[in-house]
Amino acid sequence: MAEALDPKDTCVLVTGGAGFIGSHTVIELLQAGYEVVVVDDLSNASIIALDRIRQIVGDEAAARLTFYEDNILDRDAMNRIFAAHAVDRVIHFAGFKAVGESVKKPVEYYHNNIEGTLTLVDVMRQHGCKSIIFSSSSTVYGDPDKLPLTEESPKKTCTNPYGWTKWMIEQILTDIHAADPEWDVVLLRYFNPIGAHPSGLIGEDPKGIPNNLVPYVAQVAVGKLPAVQVFGDDYPTPDGTGVRDYIHVVDLAKGHVSALAWMNGKTGVEVFNLGTGTGSSVLDVIKAFSKACDKELPYVVKPRRGGDIAANWCDASKAEREMGWKAQYDLDDMCRDSWNWQSHNPNGFEG
Ligand code: UFG
Repeated sequence: MAEALDPKDTCVLVTGGAGFIGSHTVIELLQAGYEVVVVDDLSNASIIALDRIRQIVGDEAAARLTFYEDNILDRDAMNRIFAAHAVDRVIHFAGFKAVGESVKKPVEYYHNNIEGTLTLVDVMRQHGCKSIIFSSSSTVYGDPDKLPLTEESPKKTCTNPYGWTKWMIEQILTDIHAADPEWDVVLLRYFNPIGAHPSGLIGEDPKGIPNNLVPYVAQVAVGKLPAVQVFGDDYPTPDGTGVRDYIHVVDLAKGHVSALAWMNGKTGVEVFNLGTGTGSSVLDVIKAFSKACDKELPYVVKPRRGGDIAANWCDASKAEREMGWKAQYDLDDMCRDSWNWQSHNPNGFEG
């Protein structure tokens, strides 16, 4: 049975804690008083993010942060880390996340994401740690029949291996709990995380040309790319462009702190949607970003992107009802903070 603990007595291991959502979550955890152990192999993250986290939280909180540059597939390394720290809870972000790349490299995606998770949970149980929060995605809902999406909406087929890894890991963790009810599993289904820490010190730093809308728009805004490509303007949506539930990464990060407090001492499997409950179109995003950076951003309409759905947004009321969590920031805030990060760090963490 998981024990109820005070944050100051709780050690949280964060896999992928140097990445975009992970780094923002580590800040919120440290500010809430937790001891934090980050495991990240830096394959898609920068060591500079760790320095920036320390700078944002200050010396007292930074003293509660330990970083290991390791891959969760490395069982020996994971065993050493669990032997060195009395880990109470795990927040599991580590994984490959590029949708298009996953279509081309299914073996690598299934190996890394699924096998990585299996290694992690096996090491966890060997060390008596059975509490995990998993970084899942609204992609598990597939093409929705009905909006908004609630946690009761059916899981449907995914359109790419990345999405399937999220779908399958949810199932794996659910089966683990069924076999051993001492496990506590929280599945957080993120909608579209964007924005950056208001300090402008950390944010999203995609390698190469961004796949996702907002990082792409941000690079158009700093002049690194000529125009936003709008993938399709003939969807059955108010302006014909795709609609998503964008959520500020700081709100999302706080959702993890709320989930930790909520799960404290419980066992079971619980799913929460983390979004704002508001849908915004591609053109809404371009308009809000143009306002944030104070210039009209050029765009060109292109054909639809394979695998995209017309619209999704969530009903986030369960998270509010159960965990007392509600998103605070709107699309203008998200674009303002993305622009603040991008304009101060045009080349991401590299300068
Ligand atoms: N889009 C463009 N131009 C671009 C990029 C995207 O018009 O250059 C459009 C897409 O067609 C879509 C919207 O902007 O309508 C958002 O696209 P993103 O690529 O930013 O995000 P997705 O909704 O496709 O994917 C995100 C995450 C995935 C996750 C999925 C779950 O990136 O990890 O949400 O719904 F699986």
